[in-house]
Amino acid sequence: MSWLTALLLLVVVAAGLLRWQRPAWYWLTFGVTFAALRVLVRYASVMDACGLTVPPSRWRLHLARATHRPAPESRPPQILRLRPTRTGLVLRIKLRPGQDAFDVAAATDRLRHSFAMYGVTSRELRSGIVELRMTGYDVLKRVQMPVKVDRAPMRVPVALREDGAVHYRDYRQMPHALTLGATMSGKSVYQRNLVAELAAQDVALVGIDCKQGVELFPLARRFTALADNPDTAAALLDALVTRMESVYQLIRAEQRITSDVPDAEIAAEIWDLPDHLRPTPIVVLVDEVAELALFASKEEEKRRDRIITSLVRLAQLGRAAGIHLEICGQRFGSELGKGITMLRAQLTDRTAHRVNDETSANMAFGDISPDAVLAAIQIPTDAPGLAVTGDSTGGWARIRAPHTTLRQAVNACNRHADRTPDVPELAAFRPVLPHLALTPTPAIETTPATA
Ligand SMILES: Nc1ncnc2c1ncn2[C@@H]1O[C@H](COP(=O)(O)OP(=O)(O)OP(=O)(O)O)[C@@H](O)[C@H]1O
Ligand SMILES: [Mg+2]
Repeated sequence: MSWLTALLLLVVVAAGLLRWQRPAWYWLTFGVTFAALRVLVRYASVMDACGLTVPPSRWRLHLARATHRPAPESRPPQILRLRPTRTGLVLRIKLRPGQDAFDVAAATDRLRHSFAMYGVTSRELRSGIVELRMTGYDVLKRVQMPVKVDRAPMRVPVALREDGAVHYRDYRQMPHALTLGATMSGKSVYQRNLVAELAAQDVALVGIDCKQGVELFPLARRFTALADNPDTAAALLDALVTRMESVYQLIRAEQRITSDVPDAEIAAEIWDLPDHLRPTPIVVLVDEVAELALFASKEEEKRRDRIITSLVRLAQLGRAAGIHLEICGQRFGSELGKGITMLRAQLTDRTAHRVNDETSANMAFGDISPDAVLAAIQIPTDAPGLAVTGDSTGGWARIRAPHTTLRQAVNACNRHADRTPDVPELAAFRPVLPHLALTPTPAIETTPATA
């Protein structure tokens, strides 16, 4: 008997320790079973307490009266499925007549407390069917990406959402993106994650890093073109516009619209071209964009106008030629001069890290979603990398990218250096490899010496 008690005590202590130190492991070992039982056992009473039940229908009341049975109780939405996941539970429910998805969305915070879960979000799958995604612990505290993710051409996993789902950057759906955030908020780490993921794809990477190249030059072996100052950036962007024009010439040459060509085969973008003719898509990463828009003299003002005009042209016309913009900056508003708001309007995918004022959050979401603005200004200072992402449909979510170190990103880029394509128009901007990228990098990350 005593060894059984000791074993039980050991299990309880282990569970407590796991819950405290390794919530993800606790969830997979104990948490998921306890939570599933809790949801199933308390379901009816919680739904009732949260006001998500409907009174019995008239015919059920009549039937009860006719058969001298007690009056039937109010009924909660029907459970269609309860699925455990790596980070929580997914509950699919069917609404009763008279209920709507907004009722459930409004009750998510009450459900979170009642089921003792860390977070609950709801979304309508189709008319009458709602999915409740519950997380068992704070998945954004220590981001661990799942091993199995859906990678596809021009679609890369970049962060984790607060409901435990993977957040993807899909260049075919949202061609251009804007990432804002105060200094030290995690923009460059987010961009580094993107580079590390894109490195394994058939894509040409072009970088403009006006912080003298400190963020992007160590990754140079996987970059087709790099610029570390506004003068080179202006010339590089001109070359990209030339490239865009030559891709359109190619598409036109392939565009044979005769009556016997089926609709689906008429090429209007690079993805319609046959594989052997398709030009490599290009992702242009710009870090600290404001540096490109600032000027102190007449000469610099001319350069600035040239840069912004090229960026606007690429944002407006680049998608079908396979040119995508990924712009990062601390602020990106009309105070940076003419052309900026026009450029911003073309950047569909918006991400805001911690910002210091509402105006900065408005630059990302003001024209999309007021709720997202509020969420962005509430990001705490002690969680760099935490961000709010939204798109032009008005939807938004909290995300956090994994903390990829520069060493890990360099290793990923070096591993895929042979994939770096040559783009003839950009040949003049091919980076001269710095010593950092040439020295063989150890596969295992080195631990910094403690002082
Ligand atoms: N996703 C993350 N998870 C954990 N820590 C992070 C994350 N992102 C950033 N950090 C921490 O925050 C620090 C600053 O991040 P980063 O350099 O990306 O900020 P930034 O917004 O680019 O700043 P700046 O505008 O000054 O360039 C990093 O060195 C890292 O320690
Ligand atoms: Mg930075």
